[in-house]
Amino acid sequence: MSEKKSRYFIRTFGCQMNESDSERISGMLGQTGAVKAERPEDADLVIVNTCAVREKSEAKLFSYLGRLAQLKKEKNLRIAVVGCVAQLRGWELLEKKAAVDFVLGPDNTAELISLVQEEAAEKHVSTSWTKEWHETSPGLIQRDSPVSAYVTVMEGCDNFCAYCVVPYTRGREKYRPLRSILGEVHDLARKGYLEAQLLGQNVNSYQDPDSGKPFTELLRAVATVEGIEWIRFLTSHPKNFRPEIAEAMAGIRKVCRQLHLPLQSGSNAVLKRMKRGYTREEYLNIISRLRSLMPGIGLSTDIIVGLPGETDQDFEETVEVLRQVRFINIFSFRYSPRPMTAASRLEDSVPKVTKQRRLEEIQRVQKDIQLEDHRRLVGQTMRVLCLGHGQKTPHLFSGRNAGNQVVNFRSDEDSTGRFVEVRITGFGPFSLLGEKTI
Ligand code: SAH
Ligand code: SF4
Ligand code: F3S
Repeated sequence: MSEKKSRYFIRTFGCQMNESDSERISGMLGQTGAVKAERPEDADLVIVNTCAVREKSEAKLFSYLGRLAQLKKEKNLRIAVVGCVAQLRGWELLEKKAAVDFVLGPDNTAELISLVQEEAAEKHVSTSWTKEWHETSPGLIQRDSPVSAYVTVMEGCDNFCAYCVVPYTRGREKYRPLRSILGEVHDLARKGYLEAQLLGQNVNSYQDPDSGKPFTELLRAVATVEGIEWIRFLTSHPKNFRPEIAEAMAGIRKVCRQLHLPLQSGSNAVLKRMKRGYTREEYLNIISRLRSLMPGIGLSTDIIVGLPGETDQDFEETVEVLRQVRFINIFSFRYSPRPMTAASRLEDSVPKVTKQRRLEEIQRVQKDIQLEDHRRLVGQTMRVLCLGHGQKTPHLFSGRNAGNQVVNFRSDEDSTGRFVEVRITGFGPFSLLGEKTI
């Protein structure tokens, strides 16, 4: 009789960096012979990869852990909490949630393997940061998509924006050696991947630890890899978005005409309080430069409403910038105070109802912008990288255009993993609808 294989279930909260880390954890566990389960009920190890960026992210985690604790009463189960909340809360998590067995910060997830192999019975917490880049074997990563791959190029953040907990969860910036990044991208090309998304909390400040080469050189190097056709990167910071980066983007055919550039606020007073290191005018200058070099570039952003002291006038200035720039997409959030941050020492002065009203207004304004801009695209034909069936639209295929807009389309044949031409026939606020022509 064969030995019973251990089965794990992994639940991921948070950003692309966490999604990428979960793919790496799956790869490492796969090496030990463990098999991925579709539901926690079918697993003997549940890994929860966590996000600490807003109060709500932590609240979601705690309610999920409550459900897992229930399940643990019914079956043999070990629970590992990894990622940003693990780093931030450490032992506190074990005290609050007795069902949790292991707590591992972002730099400590590899320890999961020995904990699983040794069938450790003791509770275990590990939240130390490594100073240097810690190499994992990229060949092991078990990726969710066969078409588009995340490639981590740096980790951590040195910016300490006043509201943000990330520098306390991910630690200081550290950069992955260029040769190691290229090794992974070559491997992806061999496996048939068409798109590489370079990831980091602050990618623009990338510097090859071996040669000192900057981010623009990284882009050029990745673009030489045959087979990889589209390159995207995130997240960029306006403060570090030097003119050379826009020029490099424009000069490299494979770099998608798309940029996620978090604005956070359109008010100079608020930007200053946020310690963002740029003004509204400087941000708008970057946008103009990008548009003059790359007309039609798809721009997206992040907005926080309700920072302590944000007035109606400050808020209106943010709305103005949205109307001026016309982003293809925004991610907007109500400010919530986070532990250790500078802003958490200020009074959280904007009432929740006001934050909610501002959030709704900003989302309404942006939705109208997207509807208007989508309407103009009807009848146009565009190149789309098909990523598979739509999650919400299983009868349609789904992909993204170079500008990073979601395009759902009808096609008689499975186009997954191919570039197709799609003629736009309809739209919603958050996606375009079309028909494959080639
Ligand atoms: N490194 C990335 C991601 C940071 S977290 C970056 O710099 O853009 C993603 C977004 O969460 C931020 O851009 C910000 O808009 C939002 N965010 C961060 N801290 C927040 C807080 N305390 N309250 C509300 N939103 C927050
Ligand atoms: Fe947070 Fe600012 Fe760093 Fe982004 S740049 S992760 S918002 S501290
Ligand atoms: Fe959240 Fe950590 Fe990402 S706090 S946004 S998972 S870096």
